[in-house]
Amino acid sequence: MSFDFSLIIDSLPLLLTGAAVTIEITAIAVALGFILGLITSVCRLSSIKILRVIAICYVNIIRGTPMLVQIFLIYFALPMIIGERINPFVAAVAACSINSGAYVSEIFRAGIQAVDKGQMEAGRSLGLSWMQTMRYIILPQAFKNVIPPLGNEFISMTKETSLVSVIGFEELTRRGQLIIAKTYGSFEIWMTVAALYLIMTLSIAQLVSFLERRFATDDRN
Ligand code: ARG
Repeated sequence: MSFDFSLIIDSLPLLLTGAAVTIEITAIAVALGFILGLITSVCRLSSIKILRVIAICYVNIIRGTPMLVQIFLIYFALPMIIGERINPFVAAVAACSINSGAYVSEIFRAGIQAVDKGQMEAGRSLGLSWMQTMRYIILPQAFKNVIPPLGNEFISMTKETSLVSVIGFEELTRRGQLIIAKTYGSFEIWMTVAALYLIMTLSIAQLVSFLERRFATDDRN
């Protein structure tokens, strides 16, 4: 087997635009997942039973089913109910955000529960409401606990977005498949695709460790 280096050079522009799409969809999914996860974790810890039940059902259903099936459900099954086709970009972002939200909510729950219980009691005894104590006292402290696992989630999502290639959405993996369909250069292209994912995930890891150093102050000292 000969390694066709020029194929990599020729395909690079297309693969790089695919990588840009991967970054775009990951960034949107992680941002929406962050909001969804934060809301869900607060619901999960609230004293209102119906909110807790909704949060638990959401997390269990999403974590208990494959993301691949969730993508199929949103792209192929949902249009049968709403009677309209869904744009692949919207379906991809929706599936990834909803999936990420469930994982982020568990990250936040752990982060919030790691904050000393006395902080909530202190806030309440000063006359703050549960929500105000959460907002001004607990969440700021929980935030630095969750930076490392959130970083993990960011890295996971970068790779998991490759699943949306199954609905024909042209992110990095799909671009690779399409180039191979034309050139038969499986080895060269998959190696390049892998290298591009690796560059993206290593860069995110760098960013996360910078943020960790920036925010992590040890409150035991
Ligand atoms: N691929 C796995 C699945 O199908 C893991 C998804 C992980 N998602 C995440 N947001 N970390 O469920």
